[in-house]
Amino acid sequence: MTKLTGKVAIITGANSGIGLATAKLFAREGAKVVITGRREEALKEAASEIDGEVLAITADAGKIDDIKRVISTTVSKFGSIDILFPNAGIAPFFPVEQTSEALFDEVIGTNLKGPFFLVKEAIPFLNDNGVVIFNTTIAHTKGFPHTGAYVASKAGLRSLVRILTSELKEKGIRAVAVSPGPIDTPIFSKLGKSEEEVEQMGAAFAAQVPLGRFGSADEIARAVVFLASSEASFVNGAEIVVDGGLSQV
Ligand SMILES: NC(=O)c1ccc[n+]([C@@H]2O[C@H](COP(=O)([O-])OP(=O)(O)OC[C@H]3O[C@@H](n4cnc5c(N)ncnc54)[C@H](OP(=O)(O)O)[C@@H]3O)[C@@H](O)[C@H]2O)c1
Repeated sequence: MTKLTGKVAIITGANSGIGLATAKLFAREGAKVVITGRREEALKEAASEIDGEVLAITADAGKIDDIKRVISTTVSKFGSIDILFPNAGIAPFFPVEQTSEALFDEVIGTNLKGPFFLVKEAIPFLNDNGVVIFNTTIAHTKGFPHTGAYVASKAGLRSLVRILTSELKEKGIRAVAVSPGPIDTPIFSKLGKSEEEVEQMGAAFAAQVPLGRFGSADEIARAVVFLASSEASFVNGAEIVVDGGLSQV
């Protein structure tokens, strides 16, 4: 399989879930993969599971100095960048009434400010015909309660996709997003809820999905490979929904 042969790809938040599944597929398709995350041990383990050329950088996706270091380290090793997948994200679900300023800042900082500045720092090193792929969510098109700060961050990314299609067009760089429905990853154990609450929430989500289940990280990774490859050469400015039909009912 050679859909991404020789391409240099940065994937943030790739020691777990969708990021790790995507890193594995990217490498299998021939890409050189740069992965980031905050938990160093998990990142080392993830790197060892990726079959191909991989560079692991411990970095906080919301911190500008770390973002600059991710780009400079990548460019020092690989020269330039073809695929940018700012995937790192957090999803603490709380009603607006219970959302503190600190929590709001953390969610926006990680999910929106981080990707924004990662793209900014990467632009000078993005190759012609490169691609920026954001990871949004179908939740920003719905009114699911308790998702306020989270969907605000992801709706921001959806808008940014459109802006980048205009601003990066001279170099033929595409900007797109993958918009997952509920996907079975460790993110749900990090919501700040009890195990019972998480299970109830998961069952409620799964019941609403026409296909009757959560998606897998691999099902999202396959869509991201498509968006990153030349097979998606005329897909631009769009958000590809991968949600088992949830957003349509
Ligand atoms: N799972 C779903 O149902 C779903 C649905 C729609 C969209 N998404 C999006 O998919 C993306 C990946 O989530 P996932 O479901 O795969 O969850 P996950 O398994 O929890 O993965 C999240 C990744 O982001 C990293 N991360 C979080 N905060 C970070 C920070 N400040 N700096 C660097 N890395 C950070 C985590 O690494 P560390 O813990 O080491 O920092 C981890 O590698 C997120 O943007 C999420 O919003 C998920």
